[in-house]
Amino acid sequence: MNSNQDTTARRPNGIWRLGDILREGTLFLSSRQIENPRLDAERLLCKVMGKRRIDLYLCHDQPVSPAERAGFKNLLLRRASREPLQYILGETEFMSLPFRLSPHVLIPRPETEILVEMVLNLVPVREAVSILDIGTGSGCIAVSLAFYLPRSGITAVDISRSALDIAAENAVLNGVQERIRFQILDIRSPESPPEFESGFRFIVSNPPYISQPEWETLAPEIKNHEPGIALYAGADGLSLHRLVAEKSFDWLQAGGMLILEVGLGQADPAGEILRKKGYRSVASRKDLAGVERIVSGIR
Ligand SMILES: C[S@@+](CC[C@H](N)C(=O)[O-])C[C@H]1O[C@@H](n2cnc3c(N)ncnc32)[C@H](O)[C@@H]1O
Repeated sequence: MNSNQDTTARRPNGIWRLGDILREGTLFLSSRQIENPRLDAERLLCKVMGKRRIDLYLCHDQPVSPAERAGFKNLLLRRASREPLQYILGETEFMSLPFRLSPHVLIPRPETEILVEMVLNLVPVREAVSILDIGTGSGCIAVSLAFYLPRSGITAVDISRSALDIAAENAVLNGVQERIRFQILDIRSPESPPEFESGFRFIVSNPPYISQPEWETLAPEIKNHEPGIALYAGADGLSLHRLVAEKSFDWLQAGGMLILEVGLGQADPAGEILRKKGYRSVASRKDLAGVERIVSGIR
């Protein structure tokens, strides 16, 4: 489907139907080596038509207007240029909750749900618990914890004002805005988050963790579209983990827990950073792919 290509002549009476353009869109994305061409074409067509996926099948004979077809083509071209599907849709799901997205925030990853589930497994649902989320991005961790722990109080910080705006929107979207305090904070600065004097029971963070060598190997969807500040973290990818471990030691209550997400091969060095700082019971946890993904320690 390049801009000159028009196969209308092949349609009876020149009428395009949902099923036709879905097939065309799938073939087009497949020809551009997009990984899940059918699924992506379906999601994009749903966005254009304001339909659910099931409706594409129930209404596959429905005629499509030239404007709808042009709208679909526009989204297909964006996807073919490797813009991530979630940014085109402007939304995603995390912990079974809806999240709005913009290119200012990292797209929440399924492996980050393990970090959230770890806290949920440790805290009884009615307990009032104070949590700090460092580098909140879309707010996926902070908002999910606030949603599933209805008596929790959460502070969520990020260096990016644009990210915090999206996170605040997501708190409203999920009805937890009263229990999350958003604050701009650069973890490299000498500042502390609000309410740190009484100490947090948990500090959670999914800091940027892409190392210099790994940066070169990233898929174009990530490298060219997701925010560099959410990804890149120096020569070994652990520069932010060092800072978070250092600062969190002062911000946690005695007995409070630091839980960090790490990249492939980073669990051992990250664990060592925590041990050296004085955290005890340092442990790691695997994701569903068997990668050591979470490192935790007790203050
Ligand atoms: C890997 S993203 C994680 C986003 C979200 N928590 C998630 O799990 O999807 C890292 C986040 O850390 C933020 N960040 C990067 N450098 C920072 C710094 N020096 N201080 C505070 N936040 C920072 C980025 O803006 C980004 O939102």
